[in-house]
Amino acid sequence: MTEKQNSVDAEETAAPARPTLRLRQPSERAPTKSSVCSRSYFVVVMVFFHIYIINVIALLLYVHYNNGEAGDSGRDHEAPSSNPRLAESHRPPSKSEFLRDVSLTRLEGIRVGHVQKVSLVPDKVHKMRTLSMKPLLFEIPNFLSEDECRVVMQLAQLKGLMESQLMVQDGQEELAKELNLSPEEIFNLLDINKDGQLQMHEILTHSRVRDGIWLTPENLREIYAGLQADKDANGLLSLEEFKLLSNDAFQRFLFQRGVKSSQLVRNSRHTWLYQGRGAHQVLQDIKTRVTRLTRLPSSIVDLSEPLQVVRYEEGGHYHAHHDSGPVYPETACTHTRLAANASTPFETSCRYITVLFYLNSVEGGGETAFPVADNRTYDEVSLIQNDVDLMDTRRNCDKSNLRVKPTKGTAVFWYNYLSDGRGWVGEQDEYALHGGCMVTRGTKWVANKWINIDPDYQRQAQYQHLVSQQLDDEDDEGLTLNPDLHHSDIHQDL
Ligand code: OGA
Ligand code: CA
Ligand code: FE2
Repeated sequence: MTEKQNSVDAEETAAPARPTLRLRQPSERAPTKSSVCSRSYFVVVMVFFHIYIINVIALLLYVHYNNGEAGDSGRDHEAPSSNPRLAESHRPPSKSEFLRDVSLTRLEGIRVGHVQKVSLVPDKVHKMRTLSMKPLLFEIPNFLSEDECRVVMQLAQLKGLMESQLMVQDGQEELAKELNLSPEEIFNLLDINKDGQLQMHEILTHSRVRDGIWLTPENLREIYAGLQADKDANGLLSLEEFKLLSNDAFQRFLFQRGVKSSQLVRNSRHTWLYQGRGAHQVLQDIKTRVTRLTRLPSSIVDLSEPLQVVRYEEGGHYHAHHDSGPVYPETACTHTRLAANASTPFETSCRYITVLFYLNSVEGGGETAFPVADNRTYDEVSLIQNDVDLMDTRRNCDKSNLRVKPTKGTAVFWYNYLSDGRGWVGEQDEYALHGGCMVTRGTKWVANKWINIDPDYQRQAQYQHLVSQQLDDEDDEGLTLNPDLHHSDIHQDL
């Protein structure tokens, strides 16, 4: 940046040195020049003039893309009022906006392939490489030592890992009965593009989100055939065809046929390791290192979720997903919900950052895929086409824009949310979509450190205040409270 800035400055200061070159419209300059100088001199001046303009444009583009979040929040698919910054300017500033005293550091990616040195532990320098700008994603080799990787895997094994996703999800049928929706109402909910037909991707997205069952277009054709649902066999369901199906026809069909773990959104086992006071030194060291890496306040990292350790067996996978959901005004964060003292219809985990550690090098497969990283545009519908489903990490990892090979000790980290432009958490970054490719040989061990921050500054502040008070009280009573304890009930997967 400074280099470009300097070159522009140099040209600007050079201009007044030529008396005939007053800073006016270029059209005014030409006649003055031609009366004094030869035609070739005019050509040279024009060439420099063009270079100058190109430089200015390049500088503007550079500044624009470096402030990725500013550019991104400007990119809005909806009405201008949905832009949070515009919306904010319409409402009177709340008290908290005057009281903001913490601003979150966001690391700069500069450009893909850029390497910066970071100091995380004494007497050692780590190299951090930018892997993508959208999402802002970095890789740090040797973030963990071999010993640390081994200790984390052993501690996880000692604690015991549980199935990451259970086969049947309870409560769905009761919920459907309670809501008492008519087939038309359900049809309209599913018909995202409102064309009066249910396309395959509309059904697939729904079954993946609702049931956690990863149907492929072939599975769906098989189900349609089994249930004789698609009478005209055009791959679409009309309202009439849909009405012939009972409410839970799909689920009953799947249940009878049986669902294998390879047909779930995720096929892995995991456990949680607390990193607070009294935890194994390696776990505390990792937390300190993550705090240094992300340059976030330690109070925020300390109050985030514990370390999640995940093991994939051969054949294991995790289809493309977001670690944390979008945030609407009525969305609450799991970690601050109790402090917020409000019941809200939507809840998400508000994982601002994901730090993913590879605890072993995988013999075959198991890459972390980012299907749309650094895409020029993001188009959710085009993710699932009839023949290629970019979200499917068992089949289509090779078509992902970016894949990170698991290497023992390497950490990757990315921001799941953009900046709000004022030093706090902004909108979800839809480019942060990612998944774990199928392990084709051997076992894969990873750990996730999620850093939870409420996009509502005041709610985060209130929560931190509340927890620090609780901690003081516990200390007075001579108890050692594990600050992660209050998380024990929120480790529901997304
Ligand atoms: C996750 C995840 C990716 C991987 O655990 O949330 O996205 O490569 N893992 O295992
Ligand atoms: Ca449709
Ligand atoms: Fe993830």
